[in-house]
Amino acid sequence: MTNIERGLWCVVPAAGHGARFGGEIPKQYLPLAGKPVLARTIDRLCAHPLTIGVMVAIAPADRNWRSIACSSTKTIETTIGGDTRAASVLAGLRALRDRVKDDEFVLVHDAARPCVRTEDISRLIEFGVAAGGALLAAPLRDTLKRAGDAQRVAATEAREARWRALTPQLFRYGELLGALQAALDARVEVTDEAMAMELAGYLPLLVEGAESNIKITTPDDLALAEFILARQSA
Ligand code: CTP
Ligand code: MG
Repeated sequence: MTNIERGLWCVVPAAGHGARFGGEIPKQYLPLAGKPVLARTIDRLCAHPLTIGVMVAIAPADRNWRSIACSSTKTIETTIGGDTRAASVLAGLRALRDRVKDDEFVLVHDAARPCVRTEDISRLIEFGVAAGGALLAAPLRDTLKRAGDAQRVAATEAREARWRALTPQLFRYGELLGALQAALDARVEVTDEAMAMELAGYLPLLVEGAESNIKITTPDDLALAEFILARQSA
């Protein structure tokens, strides 16, 4: 038995500073088609019929959250994130301790991915619940090079069986909490939830998701996200 009928909580790490993006205001608070990136991301999650609420991990010195207006009437709460993405996700999970049982599934989704499609979230839940844990991912399309000295190509690597990890990622609350805590204790910097689960011995399922679910990393990505959103609503 799962909590799917009751609905899923989402954890959104949004405590980053956006170093690669640059600028004064963290990228998740910049306007995207007239609305902050983070508000668009939360709206996407809340628009899915199987979500019940969103726990957003924000930076301790955040001064932008209070101006965020989300469209949904679902529960949206904040907690203080950590120094790394994994620490922020862990903080978000801990803040849900009284509301989510250990064997219930939760979704974790980057604040910087506002273009995720409802149908991809549905497929992740459908296949992920059956598999006991999963992530959206995209198979690598480009030829992959390993760089050597002076940025010369050292080798061409096999493209087969290589995927790019996206979010959302879906795992059981207790297992994910334990896996992230174990990674933190071992001082292994995990860059997504699946990596923590892999280290703990699980085999997360790769569920193919749209390439349009980009992570806004640089200013160019913001323009691309605007284009993607316009296409999606056309
Ligand atoms: N994140 C977080 N807490 C951190 C670092 C990152 O909650 N200490 C969040 C970001 O806000 C973002 C997501 O994790 O929504 C993915 O991280 P990334 O795209 O790398 O964002 P930043 O870390 O902010 O950007 P950069 O790496 O360029 O500094
Ligand atoms: Mg980062």
